Amino acid sequence: MGHKGVLEILLASILLVASISLHTCNAAQESDDGGGWSSRSEVGLQDEGPCTIDVQDTASLTHRQFIEHYAYRQPVILTGITDNTKFRLLCSKTNLLGSFGDHKIRLSTANTHSYRKVDVPFQEYVDFLLKPQSADALGSDTLYFFGDNNFTEWSPLFDQYQPPPYRLPGTTDAFSFGVAGPGTGVPFHWHGPGFSEVLYGRKRWFLYPPDQEPHFHPNRTTLSWLEETYPLLPPEEAPLECTIRPGEVLFFPDRWWHATLNLDTSVFMSTFLG
Ligand SMILES: *[C@@H]1O[C@H](CO)[C@@H](O)[C@H](O)[C@H]1NC(C)=O
Ligand SMILES: *[C@@H]1O[C@H](CO)[C@@H](O)[C@H](O)[C@H]1NC(C)=O
Repeated sequence: MGHKGVLEILLASILLVASISLHTCNAAQESDDGGGWSSRSEVGLQDEGPCTIDVQDTASLTHRQFIEHYAYRQPVILTGITDNTKFRLLCSKTNLLGSFGDHKIRLSTANTHSYRKVDVPFQEYVDFLLKPQSADALGSDTLYFFGDNNFTEWSPLFDQYQPPPYRLPGTTDAFSFGVAGPGTGVPFHWHGPGFSEVLYGRKRWFLYPPDQEPHFHPNRTTLSWLEETYPLLPPEEAPLECTIRPGEVLFFPDRWWHATLNLDTSVFMSTFLG
């Protein structure tokens, strides 16, 4: 064996080691990856903004403390409250398309009142409509998959979801599942209390108390509000905000105004407490 042979073996070993460490690295980042939905560095929005919402680890916040300090008062981000590792895996791009690609889903326009509804096969939504949102698109022209879920067809998946265990007295759960592209989101609106969790991707949240209605146009997107209105807000009109990642659950109290912005292609589940 000459120099060339040794060199080749050496090179092959280096490549082998490199590919092994790449794999280990991928496995280690599994909970933080995009599940095949998007590569954060390619299309994700990078500005996560500040986090001005309380973040509480459930190990140090009891259900009673949650009720006393947050349930009827202010939003909170709970970490370690659910372990949806299994559900998350079922929500990878390959798995979701494999199970539900040919199922019709109902899309809504992403404006405050969600006027228009359109039914398309899930595969078609992923192939053609799930793309980064530009800042000048109108909410009323943007189709968004969130809610309007067919619980009969999707029950094999939704049954695997572990909802946050904290309850408000006298309420029951209703799930809303969605998948949406970077730059999309729902502009300001309000409804009853609930939780929101991302399985893949990051989601930036903006919230205001019920008596502090934010300035926004109901047909403009969260992204255009962020670019045009948000930078000009006086400090006393700043929203509460934070970006949540997989493994974190945001709680929003009853009638709080909120808007969302998906920084990456996101797969998410909300639990509305009706
Ligand atoms: C849900 O899917 C089932 C089975 O395909 C269908 O019969 C039913 O009409 C659907 N429900 C709604 C509300 O679309
Ligand atoms: C928003 O868009 C909807 C549907 O295109 C339209 O009917 C409505 O008048 C618009 N609202 C405003 C305030 O422009």
